[in-house]
Amino acid sequence: MTRVLVATDKPFAAIAVEGIREVVEAAGMELLLLEKYTEKQQLLEAVKDVDALIVRSDLIDAEVLQAAGQLKIVVRAGAGYDNIDLGAATARNICVMNTPGQNSNAVAELVFGLLVYGLRAFFSGASGAELKGKKLGILAYGNVGRNVARIAKGFGMEIYAYDAYTGTQVIENDGVKAVASPEELFKTCRIVSLHIPATAETKNSINYDLLSLMPEGALVVNTARKEVIDEAGLARIMEERTDFKYLSDIKPARDAEWTAKYPTRYFATPKKTGAQTAEANIYAGIAAARQIVDFIQNGNTQFKVN
Ligand code: 3PG
Repeated sequence: MTRVLVATDKPFAAIAVEGIREVVEAAGMELLLLEKYTEKQQLLEAVKDVDALIVRSDLIDAEVLQAAGQLKIVVRAGAGYDNIDLGAATARNICVMNTPGQNSNAVAELVFGLLVYGLRAFFSGASGAELKGKKLGILAYGNVGRNVARIAKGFGMEIYAYDAYTGTQVIENDGVKAVASPEELFKTCRIVSLHIPATAETKNSINYDLLSLMPEGALVVNTARKEVIDEAGLARIMEERTDFKYLSDIKPARDAEWTAKYPTRYFATPKKTGAQTAEANIYAGIAAARQIVDFIQNGNTQFKVN
């Protein structure tokens, strides 16, 4: 019998697990669960005899893939798959997929939760600022970026976007101004929301030079990956500009230092929260289960990323 393991250090909502179970069992497969594990050894043990794996940001490196002797497919229930060693998977003939778009509204809504919290002086009672009429820059116009633009319209923001791969027309059709470079975006917008994946190209790309282009009252919100920020550059700008705010869903290495030093300009969620809604868990989890069934039964590789 085909065995499907859900291995999630940060578990899905119970209702999403039930949905995954229904899909897997209806296909005559067995569902196994490893949730909230604390040691890598637990993951190494759990993957031993499984054919398929559903994960979130769980680290699936060469050692885990090596331990999973029967593994045929790994689905990252979510967008970013930088936590999976694609080279090692390909070398072992293991198919890797993601579930693009399934959790993007949840992440986009968190952007606005963070923005309102940050602009309202972290609900301290001090006078804050409104989103209406502010220039918002969206860096990368993918599934999350598009949802951010949709919601920003409701707040009455002036929306700009840069995307290295999406055509200007596609962006402008949404009533968003497409700019020609990240530099132009950072120079134009008081608020910038990051939605680039962590790749060799983007790592450390949000650096001092880019950040220092931002206008007075700058605010950067990061619900993407911590690796895209050049932390030393951000540290320098936080030090130099008392008007600069940074809000993040991924704790930087300097989290404790910045929390103490910049209580009115810095905030990071205690645990990555962007995709942590029942809806996103259901959409991404069930999509992952369906993709596994379709791959095992029909060889469908539509969402393969390696
Ligand atoms: C993603 O890449 O899909 C998001 O960053 C969500 O990650 P998570 O599933 O670990 O919350």
